[in-house]
Amino acid sequence: MIDPFGRHITYIRVSVTDRCDLRCVYCMAEDMTFLPKAEILSLEELERMCGAFIGLGVKKIRLTGGEPLVRRNVMQLIENLGRRLGDGLEELTLTTNGTQLARHAAALAAAGVRRINVSLDTLDGEKFTAITRLGRIETVLEGLEAAKAAGLAVKINTVALKGVNEDEIEDLLQWCGSQGFDLCLIETMPMGEIGADRVDQYLPLSLVRARLKRRFTLAETNYRTGGPARYYSVAETGRRLGFITPMTHNFCEGCNRVRLTCTGTLYMCLGQDDAADLRRPLREGTDDAGLIAAIREAISRKPKGHDFVIDRRQDRPAVARHMSVTGG
Ligand code: 5AD
Ligand code: SF4
Repeated sequence: MIDPFGRHITYIRVSVTDRCDLRCVYCMAEDMTFLPKAEILSLEELERMCGAFIGLGVKKIRLTGGEPLVRRNVMQLIENLGRRLGDGLEELTLTTNGTQLARHAAALAAAGVRRINVSLDTLDGEKFTAITRLGRIETVLEGLEAAKAAGLAVKINTVALKGVNEDEIEDLLQWCGSQGFDLCLIETMPMGEIGADRVDQYLPLSLVRARLKRRFTLAETNYRTGGPARYYSVAETGRRLGFITPMTHNFCEGCNRVRLTCTGTLYMCLGQDDAADLRRPLREGTDDAGLIAAIREAISRKPKGHDFVIDRRQDRPAVARHMSVTGG
């Protein structure tokens, strides 16, 4: 699949549920309402969707959420997709908050998952509970131990939050080094009503990078994962440090991905509202012909890029849906 700007679409992110056992302050409102179950694709339907995308040249699938591991029987889907590894699919991975990892890490590795991204914004237990509103950091730390024991490569995703974890980022980088994890810092993106002012949370990563450079030797690398992150090597830890800066830097030129929600809506861009309904052609067709035509039509509409702004005069998010709908 090649989009109108010559970009090859080889990566799909699939949100398997909009539900989550946490309520991170930058992601969700405290009283978040989730989709009715009837709207959600079954695991069999999600698998059929993924199969159609693999048939169209997708080589990498990332399962996201909400929290993918809170979906009942999700391991069944992961195991079935794992069987496509080496048969069109080259990589199967997931982004998780880590709370269920202690239970699932070994099975993930057995299914062929090699790398996972785990969201963790702080190492301070009290702060963790304040940011996630519902979580205990010990659960995530146990999950990370299990991931290491299972041989999964881990990248920690940290959202940089002004006045919340900004004084801790050096410690996080050091800690990741000691654990053998890469670290990726993310700017907050204006997605979905969260019942708070995002301007207060926004911390530009250019500032964070300048501060880190006082204590660490950061060297630019051309390592890319096909994602938007720019990576540096950290001489002191021997690990990589990535920056995802949608607000201060446009990362759209090399975009190779689309995003499928758990209701079967395909978003061609994280930062745009245009979408295609794939649930209808999926449910209408007994074979995949209609579905494949709908996917091709959607790719032909993939926009050139997003245009996030955080603006005090604008009190609405740039994109109405929450990150937990399209999975970041
Ligand atoms: N801005 C930036 N990152 C976000 N995440 C969730 N919501 C937002 C937001 N509004 C992060 C999570 C996770 C990743 C999937 O996206 O912390 O690491
Ligand atoms: Fe859940 Fe991730 Fe959103 Fe936090 S950021 S509430 S862990 S989906």
